[in-house]
Amino acid sequence: MIPDKVPKEDVFLGSGDWRKDAHVPSFEAYKELYLKSIEHPDEFWGDVAKDFFWKSKHTGRVLDYNFDVTKGEIFIKCMEGASTNICYNVLDHNVHHRKLGDKVAFYWEGNEPGDQLTVTYRDLLLRVCRFANVLKAQGVKKGDRVSIYMPMVVELVVAMLACVRIGAVHSIVFAGFSAESLCERILDSQCSLLITADGFYRGDKLINLKLIADDALQKCRDKGFPLQRCIMLKHLSKEVDQDQTPMGSQSPPAKRPCPDLQVPWNPDVDLCWHSLVDGASDECEPVWCDSEDPLFILYTSGSTGKPKGVLHTLSGYMLYTATTFKLVFDYQPADVYWCTADIGWITGHSYITYGPLANGATSVLFEGLPTYPDVSRMWEIVDKYQVSKFYTAPTAIRLLMKYGAEPVHKFKRDSLKVLGTVGEPINPEAWQWYYTVVGEKRCPIVDTFWQTETGGHVMTPLPAATPMKPGSATFPFFGVVPAILNESGEELEGPSEGYLVFKQPWPGVMRTLYGNHQRFETTYFKKFPGYYVTGDGCRRDEDGYYWITGRIDDMLNVSGHLLSTAEVESALVEHEAVVEAAVVGRPHPVKGESLYCFVTLCDGIKYNRTLEAQLKQQVREKIGAIATPDYIQNAPGLPKTRSGKIMRRVLRKIAHGERDLGDVSTLADSSVIEQLFQSRCCTAE
Ligand code: WTA
Repeated sequence: MIPDKVPKEDVFLGSGDWRKDAHVPSFEAYKELYLKSIEHPDEFWGDVAKDFFWKSKHTGRVLDYNFDVTKGEIFIKCMEGASTNICYNVLDHNVHHRKLGDKVAFYWEGNEPGDQLTVTYRDLLLRVCRFANVLKAQGVKKGDRVSIYMPMVVELVVAMLACVRIGAVHSIVFAGFSAESLCERILDSQCSLLITADGFYRGDKLINLKLIADDALQKCRDKGFPLQRCIMLKHLSKEVDQDQTPMGSQSPPAKRPCPDLQVPWNPDVDLCWHSLVDGASDECEPVWCDSEDPLFILYTSGSTGKPKGVLHTLSGYMLYTATTFKLVFDYQPADVYWCTADIGWITGHSYITYGPLANGATSVLFEGLPTYPDVSRMWEIVDKYQVSKFYTAPTAIRLLMKYGAEPVHKFKRDSLKVLGTVGEPINPEAWQWYYTVVGEKRCPIVDTFWQTETGGHVMTPLPAATPMKPGSATFPFFGVVPAILNESGEELEGPSEGYLVFKQPWPGVMRTLYGNHQRFETTYFKKFPGYYVTGDGCRRDEDGYYWITGRIDDMLNVSGHLLSTAEVESALVEHEAVVEAAVVGRPHPVKGESLYCFVTLCDGIKYNRTLEAQLKQQVREKIGAIATPDYIQNAPGLPKTRSGKIMRRVLRKIAHGERDLGDVSTLADSSVIEQLFQSRCCTAE
């Protein structure tokens, strides 16, 4: 499956002395280890496990599973019977055993240049213990779910690790989601506590987070789920940073006037983070958990419109994120690593918190935006902290590309060694710009394909081993066995294109959908029994390289964020003027895809700008700003089959302005097509 030889022409390797000392220094070394990982997974992962602390040894196999629905219930277990604690492994073990107490865990860089904090492993451990004691005092116990809705601050990492320390399960909701989305997630996971902050700035824009959180809690109450406690961090309204004393901070966050900050306070429910932490003890014995106990829930879009609560468990996720981080970025102790994702998404969970901390790495934790206060910000930060490994999304690269090379050249970037991308296919033009302008042809690019469900990278180059082809995620990571299937479920050999599936589990794969194992089996394992179905299309070229071609289900990828068409459609039809809605993706030069919505209005209602603005607002309120439609088109009729199914394929072509519609013989009424072409939206509002 892995080719014997990789091509020498038309590929890129990067350069630099560091390559010969890399963990996986050549393609031969990769192939050898890969074979071991799939032929003897117990041995392979058993070796990895030796680097971690286990309170007691596993009793089951290192990796045990059933991946075939026709043979019974799907399950995956890793190191079953062992007891451990991830928080202990990423903090105590690093401080006490690896002697990394004084090493910097995070350089926090705020939205405003000049806002910064330095947090060592020892500081972080102390803060986590205190906050874990706070959670315990609030009655949070092993297995309880805690919802976290916070900006990119150190306390977000503290909150998540404090949950893990006491065996509670965190459910982080990205701070760009709406009150409705937060409420839906709190209800689904039946959380017993919410942790949030007063507010934060994204660039120039103030987000009144507590206001939104309160709205969500009111919605929960209305639905019969009164959440009793909400802990609020004062991020913007903090007078003195009381929490900083033991932190060795370089400078307190600069004050920025925020007269519009609104911090509603409900004394029956709200608790102040700072007052609680002030009196808390610095010591907190971790709760030892079983390998297969739940670690966290993270919601991701589902094609039915209802978000899916992806559940990850302890040991497998720990081994997998630690190993992928170490090998894919070729992590070395002197590195300064920076992943620009938000912790509210899986990339931040795996590659800001767990993977880097498990390796004792030093990371940059950035609160701001790539374009604020100007478009050089990223490169300024790279130089400021001497970042050596840098991980971002194609959408950010495309955005910065628009401003040319000058803002990049203002800074040296000579510390950079490896660049990475994640979230969506990277187009070769953006790849070349990243490689040439940002990395000056020195730095390999690891184009990492993975999903919330996979826990960590599954298809990716290794920086010193894999010759790269711009736009290809290249080959599988250790333990991962990909295949390409046709519509009938047959495995295709050689150059081919079809459904990307995986044939056996790896330690980091999700275990279930929270509270709905049946949906888990139906979504991922029923279409092609014996395989995990990713939902992505994939092509394999004549050299055996894999190229992800994008989603082939009803999911859209806007700026690297997955959205389900059904979810946006249901937000639109909730408006009283709309009877029917159909949403498709339209290619977008920066965001990858943009949302193009067709709406059919109730009889007698006229489409106008006010209605359009209302509909956009409606979607923002129901889902969040990331789902704001780019285009809304009034569609008196939608193209449907005779059985009434909306033909999205045709709508996609209309949105794109493509006249060649292919076979439309099943269309019930072809006159709607011309009408829709006539009234197409050509430019985004
Ligand atoms: C897409 C993000 C191409 C893909 C980690 C996948 C990619 C979805 C890549 C998961 C990549 C992610 N090349 N496509 N390197 N990385 N994707 O769950 O469609 O937010 O199924 O996880 O993003 O998105 P999710």
